Amino acid sequence: MTVQLFALVLVLLMECGQSKIPPHEEVARVARYVVNQCAWASMATISTHDPVRGQPFANLFSISDGPVGYGKGIPYMYLTHMEISVQDLEVNSQASLCMSLAQTDFCKKQGYDPQSPLCAHVILSGSVVEVKNASVEALEAKRALFDRHPEMIDWPTDHNWFFAKMNITQVWVLDYFGGVKIVTPEDYFKATPY
Ligand SMILES: *[C@@H]1O[C@H](CO)[C@@H](O)[C@H](O)[C@H]1NC(C)=O
Ligand SMILES: *[C@@H]1O[C@H](CO)[C@@H](O)[C@H](O)[C@H]1NC(C)=O
Repeated sequence: MTVQLFALVLVLLMECGQSKIPPHEEVARVARYVVNQCAWASMATISTHDPVRGQPFANLFSISDGPVGYGKGIPYMYLTHMEISVQDLEVNSQASLCMSLAQTDFCKKQGYDPQSPLCAHVILSGSVVEVKNASVEALEAKRALFDRHPEMIDWPTDHNWFFAKMNITQVWVLDYFGGVKIVTPEDYFKATPY
């Protein structure tokens, strides 16, 4: 086999393994797939800042649950207490993360509007918890995040960055017509997206 042909076969294998969305009725698998494909999420917190104190506040965060094709389902984040939403989390750690295949080329290729349920999106409810500094999980979070967000390595050290994760209590999936579907954290973590 020529080198070119070998490379082509390799690329095709990777495409098959990593870019095919599971069937819509396999909701837990779809949820894991969407979370793994997405490199960022919008996160809503309960604001502690005037004049919107007590109101929902949506903001954007880089996330990673592991390498594309090998995610474990836990969205990790790299946060600093200087950040406005992180200040909310210090008062109330409850949060909601939303991720959509609109951020990949899937929906554009299929011609799905981001608000269409066919443009699969997932909403996670739960709380954001700090990953203990210098723990085994902190190393895992670091690897998961820095591989997909290499610029993080150079973020200013005086910001005292720390690793955090979403402690998921409920998964909501929009991947087809007929309304939102619910997945328990147990089923979500048991599912194999690829
Ligand atoms: C985490 O631990 C490392 C090494 O143990 C230390 O250098 C760093 O300052 C700690 N970070 C925070 C935010 O406590
Ligand atoms: C995650 O959330 C559940 C349900 O609210 C709670 O019982 C558990 O203590 C939380 N885990 C952590 C690490 O905060």
